[in-house]
Order: sequence, then structure tokens, then C-alpha cells
Amino acid sequence: MQVSRRGWLKNAGVACFGAASGGLATSLCTATTTSGMEPTPLPWPYVQLDPEAVAATAYEMHFKAGCCYAVSASIIGELKKKVGAPYTIWPTELMTYGGAGVAGIGTLCGGLNAAAMVTFLVTGSADKTKNGKASEITRDIFNWYAETSLPTYCPPQPKFETVKVVCRSNLCHVSVSKWCKASKCKISSKEREERCACLSGSVAKYTVELLNAQLAGEFKTTHKIPAEAQKCRDCHDKGSAREDARVQMDCGVCHFTKTPHPKL
Ligand code: HEC
Ligand code: HEC
Repeated sequence: MQVSRRGWLKNAGVACFGAASGGLATSLCTATTTSGMEPTPLPWPYVQLDPEAVAATAYEMHFKAGCCYAVSASIIGELKKKVGAPYTIWPTELMTYGGAGVAGIGTLCGGLNAAAMVTFLVTGSADKTKNGKASEITRDIFNWYAETSLPTYCPPQPKFETVKVVCRSNLCHVSVSKWCKASKCKISSKEREERCACLSGSVAKYTVELLNAQLAGEFKTTHKIPAEAQKCRDCHDKGSAREDARVQMDCGVCHFTKTPHPKL
């Protein structure tokens, strides 16, 4: 179906929006006008991708426009090739905004920002009853990132050997500065760029592995927040006595690093 539809789109000679629902794809465009086109509802169609190949592309793309661009464009680029519309209308450059923790601000790692976007694009929905899976997969990716010695992907011929670190955080600032400390390199160094390119490869690869598993009906959460942080949440997060912190991160990175928790 995909092949013949692509052929039809090619013959029409225009970029079209497609609508996918319940596995059925319908084109909504006409060859002559763009009026009346509706955006394609989520989730967009996903097919099995090769995690290694996507990782290699993400690593290369990182040098063009940074982490958030690299992780999103490497995955969506493959979907564009294999699925066609609606991915053909995706503005690949958009995700550049997320680089270095959004415009260099050092908040959320851009690779993770992209991973969450792609995950939501192919498994999400605005309907609260349907978007649980997208959040579950996203949390697994974020927890994996925080607790894994990264990078897990490096190209066969890296420009530099990269020191691996466990960040305990999804923040660009924490991730990069911990690595600077471990490697004794500066944030503006070529070594740091290489490290983050490998990280983009690693995040793209892991994301594709989970999305492939989800497509096969085999996704199961394997990375949870640390047990210690879960204990904190039992007293501070939703459903707790205090309900004063909505956080699913490793609390100990920021809290009580020097002073203990108040006596209870
Ligand atoms: C058994 C319930 C319980 C657990 C477990 C718990 N807290 Fe608390 N937390 C409290 C209560 C109650 C207060 C208020 C204490 C006070 O004001 O004297 C508090 C206060 C705090 C405060 C504000 C006080 C300050 O000194 O800044 C922070 C931050 C905090 N907790 C974070 C955490 C973190 C992080 C963890 C896990 C390491 C954690 N809590 C585990 C119940 C708990
Ligand atoms: C990235 C750093 C970071 C992480 C991770 C983090 N927090 Fe916080 N949290 C803060 C900061 C900063 C504040 C504001 C502290 C202040 O104003 O004194 C805060 C405030 C709080 C407060 C209110 C403190 C008060 O004085 O009443 C609680 C409770 C709290 N955090 C709990 C948690 C718990 C529980 C976790 C883990 C599940 C967590 N935090 C993870 C940085 C963090």
C-alpha cells in the first residue's frame, strides 16, 4: 500500500499531507491546491528502522546543526525514505532550536528533547487515555540516559577517544560539565563536540530500539528512576502527603549534596 501510494504522490508531483488512522493511509491533497489540507493526526506511521544505521547518521548530522537536530532528523529522515508522507512535509531544520539544552541554555539535553518529540509523534495523542505509552517510552529513554555510562555509540573511526560518564541527569549542563571535569576538556573543544556527536548517535539508537520494540508489541520499561528517588517521591510527589514536587529525576543530584534532609 505504501509503495503504490508513494507512486501516486510522485505522479501528482506535489508534497502532500497524508492522514493515517487505524493503519489506513489516505491522502488529503489535490494536485493543484493546498487549501483545505488538514494536518495528519497523531500517531504518524512508524516502521522498523535499523538502530545502527540511524546512529551513524545522527553522529554525522550532529556536526551540521547539533544534538536536537541530529537525533530528530536522523530518525525522521529514515521514515521519510521508508514511509514517505506525512514525513515529507516535516521541517527538518525546526529542531535545531533544542541544541545545547535549548538555544544553548543548558536545560534538557537536545538529544532527549528530540527523542521525546519523535516518540510522541509516532506513539502519542492529545487524548489522555491514549498517550500513556508515549510518556512511558520517553521516561525510559530519559532514565536510561541518566544512569548509563555514555556514550554507548561511537563510530568505527572516531576523531577522538571519548571518556564515558554517568550523568545522573537529563540536563545538558550537568551532562556536559560532568564530562568536562572527567575529560579535562573545555566545552568549546573539538573533543566535546565529538563526545556530544557520539551522544546523539547513542540517543538516536536507543530511541529507535524502543520504538521498534513498541511496534512489535514488545516494549517494556527497563529503566526506572533510582529507588532512592522513588522514596522521596512517595512523600513529595502526586498522591503523597505533601504533593509539593512533581519530579521524576534523581533528586540527589541537586538536593542534600552537602546538608542532610531535615529530621522527620
Ligand atoms: C517520609 C517522608 C519523606 C521522605 C521519604 C522524604 N521527605 Fe523530604 N520532606 C518531608 C517533610 C515532612 C518535609 C518538611 C520537613 C520540615 O519542614 O521540617 C520535607 C522537606 C523536604 C525539603 C525542603 C526542606 C529543605 O531542607 O530544603 C526538600 C527539598 C525535600 N524534603 C526533598 C526530599 C528528597 C530529595 C527526598 C529523598 C532523598 C525526600 N525529601 C524524602 C518528607 C519526606
Ligand atoms: C535539577 C535539580 C533538581 C532535581 C533533580 C530535583 N530538584 Fe527539587 N528543587 C530544586 C531546586 C533548585 C529547588 C528550589 C529550592 C529552593 O528554592 O530552595 C527545588 C525544590 C524542591 C522542593 C521544595 C523545597 C522547599 O524548600 O520546600 C522539594 C520538596 C523538592 N524540590 C523535592 C524534590 C524531589 C523529591 C526530587 C526528586 C524526585 C527533586 N526535588 C529533584 C532542584 C532539583
